[in-house]
Amino acid sequence: PAQAAQSQRDTRTTPAQKHGDAPVTPMTTAFGTPVVDNQNSRTAGPRGPLLMEDVWLLEKLANLNREVIPERRMHAKGSGAFGTFTVTHDITRYTRARLFSEVGKKTEMFARFTTVAGERGAADAERDIRGFALKFYTEEGNWDLVGNNTPVFFLRDPRKFADLNKAVKRDPHTNLRSARNNWDFWTLLPEALMQVTVVMSDRGIPRTFRHMHGFGSHTYSFTNAGGERFWVKFHFHSQQGIEALTDAQAEVLAGKDRESHGRDLFQAIERGDFPKWKLFVQIMPELDAETYRFHPFDLTKVWPKSDYPLIEVGEFELNRNPDNWYQDVEQSAFAPSNLVPGIGPSPDKMLQARLFAYSDAQRYRLGVNHHQIPVNAARCPVHSNHRDGAMRVDGNYGGLPHYEPNSYGQWQEQPQYREPPLRIRGDADFWNFREDDSDYFSQPGALFRSYDPAQQQRLFDNTARALGDAPDFIKQRHVDNCSKADPAYGAGVAAALRKLAESGPADPFAPARPEAGFPRATPGAED
Ligand code: HEM
Repeated sequence: PAQAAQSQRDTRTTPAQKHGDAPVTPMTTAFGTPVVDNQNSRTAGPRGPLLMEDVWLLEKLANLNREVIPERRMHAKGSGAFGTFTVTHDITRYTRARLFSEVGKKTEMFARFTTVAGERGAADAERDIRGFALKFYTEEGNWDLVGNNTPVFFLRDPRKFADLNKAVKRDPHTNLRSARNNWDFWTLLPEALMQVTVVMSDRGIPRTFRHMHGFGSHTYSFTNAGGERFWVKFHFHSQQGIEALTDAQAEVLAGKDRESHGRDLFQAIERGDFPKWKLFVQIMPELDAETYRFHPFDLTKVWPKSDYPLIEVGEFELNRNPDNWYQDVEQSAFAPSNLVPGIGPSPDKMLQARLFAYSDAQRYRLGVNHHQIPVNAARCPVHSNHRDGAMRVDGNYGGLPHYEPNSYGQWQEQPQYREPPLRIRGDADFWNFREDDSDYFSQPGALFRSYDPAQQQRLFDNTARALGDAPDFIKQRHVDNCSKADPAYGAGVAAALRKLAESGPADPFAPARPEAGFPRATPGAED
């Protein structure tokens, strides 16, 4: 047995293995047979051609060709860490979700932070939304809250999501990111203005992943033990504070270190400086939604805290770096459809589309059995009678019957977790949400007015630079949209555009002169 254990140690990596931990690691093929020479290919004579029988060379070449999997279509560049969520306040009157069942309760979790538009190798310090994806391993299954660092989004209708992705990514002709495409699309959708304002503000480039808030953004639902439903929004407040980079600071940083945010997160956790976020919820009683003064499931709007104040729930800290980035971060799969009893969706049609899109993307990106990958696997018993598929390695339910109903009590449904019925009515049509509620300007206006003069000036300048070489009519359309939010907002952007035009084309080789100190956010309308 000792010999068997030894050979296992030799041929398998243990999660804890790092540089220098294991001085002797004999090399084998993927099937465990010894590799006798890893320096020299097998040839016919010292100067002769390769021999086909050099199977280790063939295996190396073949494996290399298959190392890359598709990157996520958006949010491709990311960093992740494991952590712990702790309940600090009782919210059982709103939800029966077991992870919130008692104060002091701890739940293991995993987080992944990302930029959206950049590809897998893009620089971290770019002006963009940041993804804020959380996976809680609860005893009733995984709950994934796949949010962003902003409480709103560009769109109200998922019909436009594929177009958004095209507009912010590369141009089909030039393969360059295009200010024209980006701003043409954004400015034609006035509902995007709140999100555009946040991205162009200081919060558009967080100083690090640790210095940003997170939001579930959509409205979700809570159901309590008595079968009452509430609408809920999730807010995660950084305990490190909110700090940002200016364009000039980001330019210098990205020039020196493309991985600045990933490096910061990894190093903070390695040195034991565990980042923390407090969880708050906003709760709306179910029937309020029918009479609330604006559409409560509109993802382009926040619920004012004067109407629905923040209620503290708990805190999570990230305290363990993955031992292997590819295994745990690249192969992680977050899906808004991973909901647990007591937490459900809302009628927000953006969220409804996301309930489909993520697992579908992951079946393509990682395969149909990606739920077996350790970072994705639930940490409670799993009994779904899906069978087979590529890479099924968990026993595949052995000889249990694979059909239901059956006479052996297998795969019994659990009606005790049924949600209360949701009243839905209406005629099927392509309803134009613009006719439902078209006030896209009050909230960006209020957000703009919550900034101090220096923050407003940075918003103007960031916007003018980002509009870049977009045609004038597109710039003007944005100025007009901003003016509808607040005349001073439009005037400020117009002035910044004029100033930039007068200073002539930017010299791409001129060194950036970054400001000293990092902009810190004051609590804004987006908190
Ligand atoms: C990633 C679709 C809106 C946050 C993704 C992925 C898809 C997708 C297909 C890649 C999934 C993967 O390969 O694992 C959509 C669609 C949307 C939408 C169809 C709207 C209809 C949103 C919104 C948010 C968001 C509103 C935030 C509130 C994220 C995050 C990730 C992501 C954080 C990265 C998850 C990770 O770290 O793996 N989205 N998305 N998305 N999306 Fe969305």
